[in-house]
Amino acid sequence: MLTFLTKFHVFHVLIISCCLLNHVNPEDNLDIPTIAKYFNTKGRYEEVNPYLIEDILAVNRSILQPPSAQCQEIHLTAIIRHGTRYPTSKNVKEMQQLHNIVLHNATGEESWLREIQSQWTMWYTEDMDGRLVQKGVNDHRHLAVRLSKLFPSLVSEEKLRGGFIKFITSSKHRCVNSTLSFKAGLTELWAITDKEFDHAVNDALMRFFDQCTRFLQEVSNNPSALSEVDKFRAGPEMRRVTEKIADRLSVQYNLITQDMTDAAFDLCAYEFAIKAVNSPWCQLFDEEDAKVIEYASDLKEFWKRGYGYDINSKSSCILFHDVFNRLNKAASESKSGQQVTEAVTVQVGHADSLLPLLTLLGFFKDSDALTSTNYATQAQRSFRTSHMLPYAANLLLVLYDCGGGDLRLQALLNEKPVTFPGLTEQQASMPLYQDVKERYKELLQGCDFETECQLFKSPA
Ligand SMILES: *[C@@H]1O[C@H](CO)[C@@H](O)[C@H](O)[C@H]1NC(C)=O
Ligand SMILES: *[C@@H]1O[C@H](CO)[C@@H](O)[C@H](O)[C@H]1NC(C)=O
Ligand SMILES: *[C@@H]1O[C@H](CO)[C@@H](O)[C@H](O)[C@H]1NC(C)=O
Repeated sequence: MLTFLTKFHVFHVLIISCCLLNHVNPEDNLDIPTIAKYFNTKGRYEEVNPYLIEDILAVNRSILQPPSAQCQEIHLTAIIRHGTRYPTSKNVKEMQQLHNIVLHNATGEESWLREIQSQWTMWYTEDMDGRLVQKGVNDHRHLAVRLSKLFPSLVSEEKLRGGFIKFITSSKHRCVNSTLSFKAGLTELWAITDKEFDHAVNDALMRFFDQCTRFLQEVSNNPSALSEVDKFRAGPEMRRVTEKIADRLSVQYNLITQDMTDAAFDLCAYEFAIKAVNSPWCQLFDEEDAKVIEYASDLKEFWKRGYGYDINSKSSCILFHDVFNRLNKAASESKSGQQVTEAVTVQVGHADSLLPLLTLLGFFKDSDALTSTNYATQAQRSFRTSHMLPYAANLLLVLYDCGGGDLRLQALLNEKPVTFPGLTEQQASMPLYQDVKERYKELLQGCDFETECQLFKSPA
């Protein structure tokens, strides 16, 4: 009884102090940090689709608008990032270091600082090393159920039992576990207990970036490839952010390095993604700080996986052809009146698998490159990993047969329709499959992984 009263009392005090501190509007959700929409690839999927906060299984079928009632979905390829995960061991080391600075050197008086110093415990350990967390299991279980509601004739019990749904995953434990979770979402939904469903591990497809020599040599293992990122991190915007953190903690400026700034941001992001709490670490940032840090991460993704270097996107040629070969097969089976043998393909990988492919397809390309000096003019950029690549991010390609040889392809990113760049407005909403193939003709005829990834490519 005593324990109960004490706990209740602490709870009460926390609520009050949090509200006074944040000047929150009573209607706002107290558990969501104001900076949660700037977490880049460490963001929660619900921030991208806020309607899911109320109902995690909600879908809106009217976002799919086939041109006629005759149109039937015949194939779905879903390329999905793993779900919410623990920090990597490198992240954890930096968080431990920051925590020590805050414990031993910070002298500020604010209640959130006292909370970190007296109540918050460093519970992250190095052996967590990027593993899937329970929230990540749920990310995939729930996504599976939503896809079954969005595409009931494809993601169905009959199709699953009949072997028409195929699963392919990266070998990383967080991806394999995500795949198992996705399957569990379906088998639980249909109460299937008499049968298990296989998945194939395929790193050539889902971790192509590890196998592309030219990419490894010229970008991934080449420190000068990220010089714009280094310049931005050493520049005035980032310096201001680190100084503000030092001021908030009342510590010497030189204690808050770039790595410590990242660690603080990570702590806020992980506490929210994993435990759904608005942790006191989030008080180290205001919204402007978060936008600067978000830009630094986008800049890195841009040069390391995005438009910065041609080989970044070309490293995904193998996945690109895999997807189109499957679409072609489904198209020709459907045209000749046969049943489509692979109705659904679920491919689970990484942000690093999705971003090169999205880039190859031309999505989220701004007129100017992201550089160390254009933070301000890029404020409205479309290249925003916080929107593109939260945990469980997914690219869905849905092929429709509308009869009479009229095949159409719909693309969705994170369950929202996206238009293939370069197609006219008219074609854009649900274009003819033929027009999509015409749009990507050059890539379909070329984009050979072996050739592109050779170190010394002969001039085209
Ligand atoms: C569903 O999507 C349609 C079309 O985008 C939109 O008009 C409608 O408001 C959405 N409904 C809900 C409940 O979100
Ligand atoms: C931070 O605290 C540690 C442990 O008390 C101490 O050894 C170190 O000198 C302090 N550093 C600064 C810059 O105050
Ligand atoms: C992930 O898979 C491993 C190996 O099968 C298992 O030991 C672990 O508990 C799983 N983790 C989660 C979160 O499901």
